[in-house]
Order: sequence, then C-alpha cells, then structure tokens
Amino acid sequence: MKNIKAIIFDAYGTLFDVNSAAEKCKDKIGNKWEGFANYWRTTQLEYTWLRSLMRRHKDFWQVTEDSLDKSMKAYEIDTSLRNELLNLYKILTPFKEVPQVLKSLKEKDLTLAILSNGTPTLLNQLVKNNNLEKIFDDIFSIEEVGIYKPDFKVYDIPINKYQIQKNEVAFLSANTWDVSGGGNYGYNSVWVNRNNSTFDNLDFAPKHQIKDLSKFLDII
Ligand code: LAC
Repeated sequence: MKNIKAIIFDAYGTLFDVNSAAEKCKDKIGNKWEGFANYWRTTQLEYTWLRSLMRRHKDFWQVTEDSLDKSMKAYEIDTSLRNELLNLYKILTPFKEVPQVLKSLKEKDLTLAILSNGTPTLLNQLVKNNNLEKIFDDIFSIEEVGIYKPDFKVYDIPINKYQIQKNEVAFLSANTWDVSGGGNYGYNSVWVNRNNSTFDNLDFAPKHQIKDLSKFLDII
C-alpha cells in the first residue's frame, strides 16, 4: 500500500448495511427475514449484471424495486410492507465502525470517495442521513457511465477525475465480486470480510483482507 493517492469505497454492503432495512421489519416478517434480505440483495445484484449484459440499463433504485417485488413474492411477504422496506432502504445504517474510521482517514488528509452502483440521489441521501457529507471528496455513481460494476467504465471514473494511476487507488469493498472487479482492473483492492466468507475463484486475490474497516488504519 505505497503511493496511494485516493481511497475509494464501495457503498452498499461495505459502508452501509443492506440487510438493515429488512432487519428493522423483522417483527413483521418473522424469522425468515434474513433469508428474505439475502435473497433480495442477491436478486438486486443479479439484475445489475444481467441488465449490463443485456444492455437494458435501469437505475439502481428501479432495480432495487424490481428485485424487492420478486423477493416479496418468493418469500410470501405481505405487500403492505413494500413501501416501508423501500423507505428503510433509503436510510440504511452504516456498520458501526464506519463513521469513526472515515473521520480518522479524513484527518490524515487523504482523498476519500465513494464509487457505487447507487444513483447520485440515493448516495447523497445516505451520506447526508448519516452525517458523513464532510468526509468525501467525491461520490461517484455508475449513472455517469450507464453500466454497472464490474464494467471497466465504472472503475475508470475516479481515474479520469483524479488523473492518477490505477495502482495509486486503494479500493475497499465487502463484495467479493467487486473486490475481484476492481483488482482485475488494476486497483489495490482490499476485501472487507466481516462475515468470515469464502472468496471467489475469479483468477484474482485481494491485496489485503480485513475484518472491518478499522483494520484498514493499520495498513494505510
Ligand atoms: C455498490 C454495490 C456493489 O455500492 O454494493 O456499488
């Protein structure tokens, strides 16, 4: 991790807990809430990859709604919960160490940015709701290029903006496929492995693996 000029974070699942929307409804959903939350997330991601391959782009909010509708059907969730789940998705909670770690990195005067599938509106709302708006130099959305991760056009966005080399970026994601995508592109990618998961077989190994974002302070 030498000569790092920008630290770029994935948003959903890395800074913000995507399961927190369904978790807040767990009393109404019952103990299938976690299976439902994981199914919703997986379907949402599959739709991003499929839409990119089919060249049928819809923004992340529309994809989130479409995947929710399929998941609610599959898990037989009462449709009266639809609006509540969507509203909660707009105010996802950050993982507990995130605000403090971001503040510490900011104090080191490093360039910090988000690079995410989310729309600019969704990302700005999430950042603002969690009082993180002073932290980031930029919030990059894939809407700028109209295709989802892991297309190279997405990972090009910060490189073009900052006019730096790919290996001058530290890219942090909890999503294994995004770690592979960013690393395959040429970033120094760091896997935030909160749940002791298994990495992918995509011809790529992350530069570092950390349990949560606080451990990043030891390697930067
Ligand atoms: C994002 C998804 C991949 O924020 O989590 O881009």
